[in-house]
Amino acid sequence: MGSRATITVRAPAKVNLQLAVGAPAADGFHPLATVFQAVGLYDEVTAVHAPAGTFTCEVSGVDAASVPTDSRNLAVRAARALLAAVGPETGSRLGVHLSIRKQIPVAGGMAGGSADAAAALLACDTLWDLHLDRSQLLDLAAGLGSDVPFSLLGGTAVGMGRGDRLTPALGRGSWHWVLLVSTGSLSTPTVYDELDRLRAGRVVLEPRVSEQLMQALRSGDPTALGASLHNDLQHAAVSLRPELDHLLELVHAAEPAGALVSGSGPTVAVLAEDEQHAAELAVALADAPGVGRVLRASGPVPGCRVVDQGVRRVGS
Ligand code: C5P
Repeated sequence: MGSRATITVRAPAKVNLQLAVGAPAADGFHPLATVFQAVGLYDEVTAVHAPAGTFTCEVSGVDAASVPTDSRNLAVRAARALLAAVGPETGSRLGVHLSIRKQIPVAGGMAGGSADAAAALLACDTLWDLHLDRSQLLDLAAGLGSDVPFSLLGGTAVGMGRGDRLTPALGRGSWHWVLLVSTGSLSTPTVYDELDRLRAGRVVLEPRVSEQLMQALRSGDPTALGASLHNDLQHAAVSLRPELDHLLELVHAAEPAGALVSGSGPTVAVLAEDEQHAAELAVALADAPGVGRVLRASGPVPGCRVVDQGVRRVGS
């Protein structure tokens, strides 16, 4: 009988309270002004040592079958990027096996893949005793995807640039969300392309953070926050999945504090007045067409955290 170190990191999903999208730059990416909030719906990534140069993963939980387990997996890419950053001398001696437990919808606009990448960075950094500082991890995260740095940070934060230049936002209290997870998915690049198509020939303003939204966050008033929620990608997501329009009508008829498509969709994030109201909205919207799962989650919650650090006994 032997033993192996295991590190488990929990990473939250996000909703964008605001997502303002500018015209695409020369590299194809769109400048953003966004306000992220991390919410209490989590993926977990467990890292164990593997032979040098080995990077493998397995995925369980919700939508697991639609997540690649080869080198396209964002968590595996994160582990490789971390080793590349520490140089060949250390890197050539290490390997990892990642077990990913999914709760966050896949391709749902809630940064599920980004959460796994952020969790893998922190898990491997801990497993391999690398001790990179926060800013090094955030830089690596930004190279993996626009939402990965926020997944490390958590809370509520303004994101500029590609959404990776983060500043924590002041806010008061907890916000109660009902998340309507679609039976389908949407690809982020396709949604950005659709937005460009819909806006072709129009002047697109520089994206700016809404002062009204920042004030609403500080006030702690859900009605004020609900009235300030806005997502430029919503129009594009609805254009690609017209049934979302009907769903949003049903949601507004149930009188939430506010609602919007989360990120590039198709998940719809519904803001409630309080916890009781969230429970009522979840019941009222449980049978809405095209909705696979109705979840409740509060935010803000912290970013990636090591939740278990132990030794697993393995066979002789
Ligand atoms: O950065 P992330 O991997 O989340 O982006 C996925 C895709 O979404 C990018 O390849 C790009 O097509 C699009 N995107 C964009 N502008 C951004 C963020 C993402 O065009 N600011």
